Amino acid sequence: MPTPTPDAWRRVDAYLSETLVGHDSGLESAVAEQNAAGLPAIEVSPVSGKLLHLLARISGARRVLEIGTLGAYSTIWMARGIPSDGRVVTIEAEPANAAIARANLDRAGVGDKVEIVVGRAADVLPTLEGPIRSGDTAPFDLVFIDADKESNTIYLDWAARLGHPGTVVVVDNIGRGGEVANPATVESNVIGTQRGLEMLARDPRFDATALQTLDLKGWDGIAIAVVTDAAATGDGTSEPGPHRAA
Ligand code: DHB
Ligand code: MG
Repeated sequence: MPTPTPDAWRRVDAYLSETLVGHDSGLESAVAEQNAAGLPAIEVSPVSGKLLHLLARISGARRVLEIGTLGAYSTIWMARGIPSDGRVVTIEAEPANAAIARANLDRAGVGDKVEIVVGRAADVLPTLEGPIRSGDTAPFDLVFIDADKESNTIYLDWAARLGHPGTVVVVDNIGRGGEVANPATVESNVIGTQRGLEMLARDPRFDATALQTLDLKGWDGIAIAVVTDAAATGDGTSEPGPHRAA
């Protein structure tokens, strides 16, 4: 089997993107505006964006939670995968990024489906629990975790709490150029990624797998999990989950 060189895997990624994803002015403008504003070019690749979109549709998601908005490229993809009365709540720590994201969402025509909450996710996530517990808002059907990797276990815990059995959870950047398989890594973001994957394996609230990705962003990967019935009973958690039976 040939060894994939960067040239070769970028050529394949471009072929797949051209063949299956195509072009969209809302999405492409979002990337152009993000780059012009000097934001890092770390949005998901087009094929991964479309995967998020398809997961929203396949799961019948109406409510989506995103942790890490950046310029809203992935947000637009997911917003386009939910019904017109659905909602994406996306959390962004950096106000300047949120401003770019808001303009990109409006330009892409999905602005009315998306709420950007500016703040550190670890502070914002607990504020989302009350309305779900009280039944004022439905739990999230799809959660995309794509923020500081050091906090992945915190974000996964909130994904289970704010979701329901059947909620789809996606974690970006689980390959990290192969470093994820280095047990002696000293990179804090890789250690955070490893702890998140170990939590997906061990915590009965999740059932998960992960795929390596080779695309224009390089060698990385995504984890995909489903929230299990254990989340409803609080099994495996130190405190009851939000859907513990009365
Ligand atoms: C980084 C973060 C991301 O979410 C990503 O997709 C790529 C890189 C980073 O922090 O380096
Ligand atoms: Mg990412």
